[in-house]
Amino acid sequence: MGIGATFLRLACLVAVARGLQLDTAFVLSQPTTGLSATGKAACLRGKINVTASATNTKLLVKSPTGQPDLTQTIVDMATVGVDYAAMVNGGPRQVFGTYHLYVELCVPADPVAARKVQTLQFLNHGGTLDHTYWDFAAGYSYVDAAAAAGYATFNYDRLGYGLSDHPDPNQVVQAALQREIAHQIVGVLRKAKIGKNRIKNVVGVGHSAGSALIIATVGKYPADFDALIFTGISASVQGVMIAQFAFNLVPASLDPSCRFNGLDKGYLTQGAVAQDFQFPFYHYPDFDPKIFRKQFDTRQTTVFGELLTFSSVVAPQPAYTGPVDVVLGQEDYVFCQANCSYPTDQAQTFVNALFPASRSKSTFLQPKSGHLMAQHYTARDGFEHSLQFLQSNAL
Ligand SMILES: *[C@@H]1O[C@H](CO)[C@@H](O)[C@H](O)[C@H]1NC(C)=O
Ligand SMILES: *[C@@H]1O[C@H](CO)[C@@H](O)[C@H](O)[C@H]1NC(C)=O
Repeated sequence: MGIGATFLRLACLVAVARGLQLDTAFVLSQPTTGLSATGKAACLRGKINVTASATNTKLLVKSPTGQPDLTQTIVDMATVGVDYAAMVNGGPRQVFGTYHLYVELCVPADPVAARKVQTLQFLNHGGTLDHTYWDFAAGYSYVDAAAAAGYATFNYDRLGYGLSDHPDPNQVVQAALQREIAHQIVGVLRKAKIGKNRIKNVVGVGHSAGSALIIATVGKYPADFDALIFTGISASVQGVMIAQFAFNLVPASLDPSCRFNGLDKGYLTQGAVAQDFQFPFYHYPDFDPKIFRKQFDTRQTTVFGELLTFSSVVAPQPAYTGPVDVVLGQEDYVFCQANCSYPTDQAQTFVNALFPASRSKSTFLQPKSGHLMAQHYTARDGFEHSLQFLQSNAL
């Protein structure tokens, strides 16, 4: 068995070495090859430069000087009678730059399956998470499940996250710029090849804030995606602010792990006690404590630039006619206040409200799951639902 496993691993690496990878116009710096969590996908990893410009919002906010300043700002954001986002909106502001982003381009490790790939999934992670959300551990990897079903995936750290650049968290890392970056990346991916085989379809897949960004991209560039899969987002937003309190946000550079040393204090993360992470993101006892611990220990950042600009880009897209799938954890606190069936199915409500002209709508409430659906015991149920949605739409 040991020999068999070794042979399989070697075979996979040889497949990558033989050139069965996603060929794109991207120039990767320090490229490495490797496998996804259980080896179903062969991945090329590295950093790309993306040059983009956008009309951001001039936010009348400064990075907090320390914890007391940040805590007061969170109170200000939730003060009765105050529309904080409107109060700090200083009008449009042009931004322009070249940004260094961490990316992973994965194809099925089985070379026969890799040659047949027609569809690539563009994955976009949520706030205080990064690319690892989609390929977290064996049994908790959408990248693995997608590769096993014959799909290529593109996974990245958004600007301001993980291994990507961390520019000005207030004026630069905002929805408008993230949308332009996503659009540029998708433009390159639409011309990608595996061997001689050209990719035919690109599907936008998001989780939470990543779903909001996919909606924003569809709004401006409706031809970017042949189908959409939204997870961890709904039109029920009363829980969002409560979740934000539960985060107990701190300047990330003050986190005792020292992982964020040197970051501008406008980069924020959850407090360093596990319940600051469990309350908004998990449903007890439906998760493996080891998975929870790993996610808590590797949690990432969020910024005012995203918190104050992402909600405004979630708007109905009556012109979009492609297939749309919406998946929510049944007990998601952030987007359902812990009951996605109340008062009616929030996944159905969302898809009907935002994508009335979609020719093929699909929804799923993943049982026994909080907001981080890919990290509960039922993760595979959600993955299988979304992959079947694509197959039933001939994608
Ligand atoms: C990206 O830009 C940086 C700085 O401009 C440069 O050092 C690096 O070589 C570039 N990387 C690629 C892959 O072009
Ligand atoms: C969730 O809401 C639905 C609809 O009101 C209700 O039937 C169901 O009992 C609720 N579930 C829980 C666990 O409260």
